[in-house]
Amino acid sequence: MMVQAQLHCLCVFILYLTTGYGQEGKFSGPLKPMTFSIFEGQEPSQVIFQFKANPPAVTFKLTGETDGIFQIQQDGLLYHNRALDRETRAVHKLQVSALDAYGATVEGPVPITIEVKDINDNRPTFLQSKYEGSVRQNSRPGKPFMYVNATDLDDPATPNGQLIYEIVIQLPKINNVMYFQINNKTGGISLTPEGSRELDPIKNPSYSLVVSVKDMGGQNENSFSDSTSVDIMVKENIWKAPESVEIVENSTAPHPIKITQVRWNEPGAQYSLVEKEKLPRFPFSIDQEGDIYVTQPLDREEKDSYVFYAVAKDEFGKPLAFPLNIHVKVKDINDNPPMCPSTMTTFEVQENERIGSNIGTLTAHDMDEADTLNSVLEYRIVDQTPKSPIEGLFLVQTYTGVFQLAVQSLKKQDTPQYNLTVEVSDKDFKTFCHVQINVIDINDQIPIFEKSDYGNITLAEDTAVGSIILTIQATDADEPFTGSSKILYRIRQGDSEGRLEIDTDPQTNTGYVKIKKPLDFETAAIHNIVLQAENPEPLVPGVEYNSNSFATFNLFVTDVNEAPQFSQRIFQAKVSEDVAIGTKVGNVTAMDPEGLDISYSLRGDTRGWLKIDPVTGEIFSVAPLDREVESLYRVQVVATEVGGSSLSAIASFHLTLTDVNDNPPRLVKEYTGLLFCHPLREPGSVIFEATDDDQQSLRGPHFTFSLGSESLQNDWEVSKINGTHARLSTKHTGFEKRVYNVPIRINDGGRPPLEGTVSLPVTFCTCVERSCLQPTDHQPGMPTVGMAVGILLTTFLVIGIILAVVFIRMKKNKGRDNVENAQASEVKPLRN
Ligand SMILES: *[C@@H]1O[C@H](CO)[C@@H](O)[C@H](O)[C@H]1NC(C)=O
Ligand SMILES: *[C@@H]1O[C@H](CO)[C@@H](O)[C@H](O)[C@H]1NC(C)=O
Ligand SMILES: *[C@@H]1O[C@H](CO)[C@@H](O)[C@H](O)[C@H]1NC(C)=O
Ligand SMILES: *[C@@H]1O[C@H](CO)[C@@H](O)[C@H](O)[C@H]1NC(C)=O
Ligand SMILES: *[C@@H]1O[C@H](CO)[C@@H](O)[C@H](O)[C@H]1NC(C)=O
Ligand SMILES: *[C@@H]1O[C@H](CO)[C@@H](O)[C@H](O)[C@H]1NC(C)=O
Ligand SMILES: *[C@@H]1O[C@H](CO)[C@@H](O)[C@H](O)[C@H]1NC(C)=O
Repeated sequence: MMVQAQLHCLCVFILYLTTGYGQEGKFSGPLKPMTFSIFEGQEPSQVIFQFKANPPAVTFKLTGETDGIFQIQQDGLLYHNRALDRETRAVHKLQVSALDAYGATVEGPVPITIEVKDINDNRPTFLQSKYEGSVRQNSRPGKPFMYVNATDLDDPATPNGQLIYEIVIQLPKINNVMYFQINNKTGGISLTPEGSRELDPIKNPSYSLVVSVKDMGGQNENSFSDSTSVDIMVKENIWKAPESVEIVENSTAPHPIKITQVRWNEPGAQYSLVEKEKLPRFPFSIDQEGDIYVTQPLDREEKDSYVFYAVAKDEFGKPLAFPLNIHVKVKDINDNPPMCPSTMTTFEVQENERIGSNIGTLTAHDMDEADTLNSVLEYRIVDQTPKSPIEGLFLVQTYTGVFQLAVQSLKKQDTPQYNLTVEVSDKDFKTFCHVQINVIDINDQIPIFEKSDYGNITLAEDTAVGSIILTIQATDADEPFTGSSKILYRIRQGDSEGRLEIDTDPQTNTGYVKIKKPLDFETAAIHNIVLQAENPEPLVPGVEYNSNSFATFNLFVTDVNEAPQFSQRIFQAKVSEDVAIGTKVGNVTAMDPEGLDISYSLRGDTRGWLKIDPVTGEIFSVAPLDREVESLYRVQVVATEVGGSSLSAIASFHLTLTDVNDNPPRLVKEYTGLLFCHPLREPGSVIFEATDDDQQSLRGPHFTFSLGSESLQNDWEVSKINGTHARLSTKHTGFEKRVYNVPIRINDGGRPPLEGTVSLPVTFCTCVERSCLQPTDHQPGMPTVGMAVGILLTTFLVIGIILAVVFIRMKKNKGRDNVENAQASEVKPLRN
């Protein structure tokens, strides 16, 4: 029994019971199917379980995958005699039978399963001591190009068999930048973003890595590790944009035609083309070899170049690399004939034009590429109709298309018009263009006015702009509707300010003199106008304009009585608000165009502050001005002409009043609710605020505060909080139950400073929730006799003191203008 107990004790450390049927205990029990978990590598001779025999069973028998390790004693004690090794056999399937005295099986066999639990007793090992691989330059970062692989015999379901890969060394390493990375779980080696960018077989074609692998997830100090070396070749990237391609337009060869190719570094990539510009048609395609085709004939005149992308993707549709730019240029062929500028080109030739004169230029157009032989044009005259007086009257310069008169001047009487057929040709095409040449009369006649004096015209100065004031007519004997007979009228004299203009009717050459700018009697009452008629075409030599081409008229402008005019629409002035009554605050000026006298008056002087001198326009104050009432005072000034039609004009007069410190500070409101609860337990305070009606500086007012009476200094104290607020504090607690009107002196610190004394009513009362129960000074009920006498005495005393104070102050302030406006009676509190 002793031994057994000891063995049981050992079991606690080595057995891991997963299927415990034993009501009788964890380590002993009847024969039943059971599973045990035992760590590998444990000391030998370890007890696993004690089976109990039920009669008639007397012994036990063990069979199955014992491997010579598991044994059972006759009395049912199951044990193993050697250390287990999970890597040799992870699960032992055993059977135990109970036998009777005759060796016959009376129970079982029942299955007993032994699971061998892993311990980290195997180190990871790389499958190769050296790996070799290669990578294309610019490969996508993170996409493995090779794997290293290690194995560990330990259970991969436990940390013992969990491997972590790591790159320990990269040689060479430039600027401490890693070009390679490893997936710590799969062992897949890929480029880092830097590697993808910077690897270059020209600079360095090979790299060596040392890669380590650790078990226990690399986290444990007791983990095993192994390392291997990896040699990597950097290969040139063949995923490169091909040279730009030239395709001849309008090709008649059967399409599609291969034009170029792209290749991904490994086979199996999926290629596609992506448009860069949105086109109505996209005439290119790519096959799965990476060959790029044009699918139909191109037209350079429609589009002369194409740019698009070639993309390579892996089987999952992920881009393998950046897209490549494919440039296609469409080469011109001469497939467009020259085109005439219009169905008929017309030139004019004057009768007296000299031989060699330039008549005009025919410019045909060719759609083929400019500055190539395909668009060089040649001009040739192939026909002249009529051929009178002779053929070949005209020449055309072969390459410029400039027409010239070839042999003699033309006569309109003989032939007024020629039709030419001109052949325009490029390398392969011919086009015929038509040119019409009109022979026109020479400008040998001047325009002649129908009369030389259009007399006197009288107009009111307010005649509307645009009115036609005169119709004039000249005639020209040259060929009608040519530049030789068209007439332009000009005003040569009498209208230096450009108040008139003349329109010409192109059919009749009639001129209409119109008003372009308003007439003004006061500036120019009489205009002596000189008109001239001219042709747009120059006159032939020897002919000149003479007096027949000139005419005159007189324009008399009559006066219209116009309203006076103010020199400004708004007059502005600025005065201090405290100017004395009768001060001149501004002036206005108006003029009458007719020079009549003007009388001024005011309108809208709602406050009755101003008056205007009707003759001079000077404006004076007639009452005290007050900025606090009206800081910008607006009135209207009226100027009326004296005599005439009494026309008048109106302008505005704006008077800005500047501030004078003329308002003493005051309390911002009537304070009624300032109270202290009676009896006062400890000194307290109330806050009040002051204001001032004068204009304040930007930073606001800066009042100073003090007690209105020095005699109150024992009871009260005033302290400033900021420019507007102050605090009134009690100096003791012995106040009566009543209202104290505390005089406060407030100074506005202005220039000059103004001071006001205000009375701040402060109530001492019995409180209910911070408000007065009832004002104590209106307490109903008859006072006692004693109280009445006291009140009477107090009242006399108060009156006496007031009288005394008033008397003293009157004496003190004699001759000084006291601005104090305190209405409150000063009260000296009485204390017993
Ligand atoms: C690593 O080797 C093991 C055992 O040979 C194999 O099962 C596994 O697929 C390999 N892994 C890789 C990523 O090659
Ligand atoms: C393994 O790699 C993953 C992802 O890259 C990372 O989150 C993890 O921390 C790594 N494990 C170790 C042990 O380095
Ligand atoms: C192609 O050329 C032929 C003559 O060679 C021409 O008639 C045709 O208009 C051309 N097509 C285009 C699209 O330019
Ligand atoms: C020139 O051609 C125009 C248009 O075809 C025709 O009207 C005109 O009569 C022709 N002139 C001469 C002189 O043939
Ligand atoms: C035009 O007015 C001028 C000057 O007032 C006068 O001498 C002349 O006789 C007038 N001519 C006509 C045609 O009334
Ligand atoms: C006011 O009168 C003075 C002289 O009298 C003159 O110089 C000035 O221009 C006048 N101002 C206006 C606004 O008319
Ligand atoms: C002055 O003090 C009062 C009371 O503390 C406060 O309400 C007020 O905003 C202050 N004014 C300025 C301009 O700081």
